[in-house]
Amino acid sequence: MEPVAITSGIYWVGGIDWDLRNFHGYLTQRGTTYNAYLIIGEKVVLIDTVKHYLFDEMLARIRSLIDPSKIEYLVSNHVEMDHSGSLPKMLEHAPNATVITSPQGEKGLRRHYKQDWEMHVVKSGDTISVGKRTLQFFLTPMVHWPDSMVTYIPEEKLLLPNDAFGQHIATFERFDDEACWDILHEEAAKYYANIVLPYGEQVKKALDALATLDIAMVAPSHGLIWRRYFPKIVEAYQRWSAHETENRALIVYDTMWGSTERLAYSLLEGFEKAGVPVTIRNLKTMHISDIMTDVLHSKAVLIGSPTLNNGVLPTVGGFLTYLAGLRPRNRIGFAFGSYGWGGQAVKEIETVMKNLGWRLPYEGINVQYIPDEEQLLAVKETGKKLGELIKKG
Ligand code: FEO
Repeated sequence: MEPVAITSGIYWVGGIDWDLRNFHGYLTQRGTTYNAYLIIGEKVVLIDTVKHYLFDEMLARIRSLIDPSKIEYLVSNHVEMDHSGSLPKMLEHAPNATVITSPQGEKGLRRHYKQDWEMHVVKSGDTISVGKRTLQFFLTPMVHWPDSMVTYIPEEKLLLPNDAFGQHIATFERFDDEACWDILHEEAAKYYANIVLPYGEQVKKALDALATLDIAMVAPSHGLIWRRYFPKIVEAYQRWSAHETENRALIVYDTMWGSTERLAYSLLEGFEKAGVPVTIRNLKTMHISDIMTDVLHSKAVLIGSPTLNNGVLPTVGGFLTYLAGLRPRNRIGFAFGSYGWGGQAVKEIETVMKNLGWRLPYEGINVQYIPDEEQLLAVKETGKKLGELIKKG
């Protein structure tokens, strides 16, 4: 239950959720942290809290540093309950604290907790002096909730952006230079693909606003604190928010009796023939939140399903719903499948792709019952042609 000094007088006092594996449908195979930060100066400030069941852990960390009743300000950068869930209990231990939040944050906190707390509502650029340090606030609506805001401490060149730049990783280590960049990048990409992806325009605006600040350290509300790789993760956020992809293909499918799977692997062979990197994901064995990371990186996304009950398989339907909600743009799409009669699955997939604004250069492939060798060769040729298209950029 030790706190960790992130700079002189500012401490990480959050909670580590080692066992978490499901974050509203997102497979968190490495667990997560909820990061809260305590500033001890002329005034004592707590920035964000933790999920309700880790309150005691956070309180123990705070108590090891200071009497919690000395907290004067409690900054709520974001209402979602993984960060505000311990606010009610925290305010019982810090009865004189004023909650600082955005206009939407005030509404959200009152709707969540039905309490008559004293709140100080801030707008973008507002500052509050807490002794030798200043808290400056910037509203970042829809990154990723309407209430989202970030806190900046210019004297420390420290940005506390809440969910932005987060990663779901439970670790003993607190700083990016104590961890492996590849894992950090993978988890930050997965986080972006599953949480932030629909809000690219808002992310761009937030990045533009933050570019004017002098930043040496970024302490998000999940995962590790950026102090070495911050320029690299900002550059990644710029690419992701612009829906930029790599020249590679992703094939996602499920299968009933193996026919759609044979089509999937024939398409794979076509990409191999074209010399284009390709990833294949079976929805029976891969979680949709991990597949979204592949979608984030891939220029072409191919989705296959057999027809079942006049539609797609439930696994494919679940993936399509998730994909449509996360709204990746600028992709080349292609649908394929097999059927006994009816054969509606391919059209259903194409409709989702068209609604996302994807380019569908070729009509989908729909094979009755079991594809023969000639059909598989034609499918492979389609994969190769899609590969050639990708190479053109
Ligand atoms: Fe980490 Fe939007 O909550």
